[in-house]
Amino acid sequence: MVQMKVPLSSPDIIEKDIEAVVGVMKTRFLSIGPKVVEFEKRMGRFAGTKYAVAVNSGTSALHLIIRGMGIGEGEGDVVITTPFSFIASSNCILFERARPLFVDIEEDTLNLDADKVEEKLESLSGEELAKVKALLVVDAFGQPADWDRFKEIGKKYKLRLIEDSAEALGSEYKGKNSGSFGEAGVFAFYPNKQITTGEGGNLVTDDEELARLARSMRSQGRGESGEWLDHERLGYNYRMDELSAALGCSQMERIEEILDKRSKVARMYGEKLAEVEEVQVPYIAPYVSRMSWFVYVIRLKWGIDRNRVIKYLNKEGVQCKPYFTPIHLQPFYRKMFGYKEGDFPITEDVTNRTIALPFFNNLKEEQIDYVVEKLKEGIKNSI
Ligand SMILES: Cc1ncc(COP(=O)(O)O)c(C=O)c1O
Repeated sequence: MVQMKVPLSSPDIIEKDIEAVVGVMKTRFLSIGPKVVEFEKRMGRFAGTKYAVAVNSGTSALHLIIRGMGIGEGEGDVVITTPFSFIASSNCILFERARPLFVDIEEDTLNLDADKVEEKLESLSGEELAKVKALLVVDAFGQPADWDRFKEIGKKYKLRLIEDSAEALGSEYKGKNSGSFGEAGVFAFYPNKQITTGEGGNLVTDDEELARLARSMRSQGRGESGEWLDHERLGYNYRMDELSAALGCSQMERIEEILDKRSKVARMYGEKLAEVEEVQVPYIAPYVSRMSWFVYVIRLKWGIDRNRVIKYLNKEGVQCKPYFTPIHLQPFYRKMFGYKEGDFPITEDVTNRTIALPFFNNLKEEQIDYVVEKLKEGIKNSI
């Protein structure tokens, strides 16, 4: 086989996207202009929420939700969340000096385990329970979590519900769009995501007050008067610029086509990997009525040296990564909270066996064939 170079991800930028960005550059409005307003309208419509607030990253959107909900205002506030995620879903809690309380994930969906969340809540004393303010649930790799369960738990324990749907733009749970399940959700648009704005994010919510606060805080805490030097509260510069918003609008024009392309790539991987018995392909739960594929993450069966397989693939020109690495084992989490190996066994087992394979809209069948071939060779050398 001739050697190929297959990147892990690759943004899908077409001529129309370029024209949209260049169009903005020809106006005077590079920031705080009509494109951000248009992008927000599209995102709210798409997610099925009343409000959308565009910001400069998914992390910023998460931070504005945490702060907007007043989490961290109480001494020792706690948010229950997953250790199997990108670090921002947990860091946003630390930004406000609240504490993430991790609960392990489901072995199949890789999402937060609702049964374990209930067990955890039941095991807490009255005093400890009073400190738990919210559930921050991540739709891992684009797969919606079991939202009916989390809504029930949220209601029972009077917890705020936050959806980190950064990876799940366009996914549906029982016919309803991700982003709309918590009181507030986020999307993220880094270039490996379903659509990109370069850097960028969006907060979506039906909560008018939260949307109003987020708009103010993303722009230095300015009030509704819009006066440049009127600051009503502590704020940040989390604004999305007009060029990014124009790119986002242009990408959203073909969101259906993009999601279809990604599904096709995932389907091809699934078919070609079906015969490789050492590989476990992603599991999609029956309540997921539409899967928006963010990444394609396989798991190797036990007994295979995963890192050696990754090394082999990289040497052969196939870019791939372990995905994720557990948040609780990151050095500063260990230091701050004393976490150690063995604390969340399912997360740790999964993260020792995963490989994110190259995955993007225009991945060609011959590239997938090459990846699968090299993966088989890599596995053979690593048992
Ligand atoms: C689950 C999750 N949450 C939050 C983020 C943060 O988004 P951003 O990189 O735009 O800040 C990401 C980004 O990859 C993510 O995957």
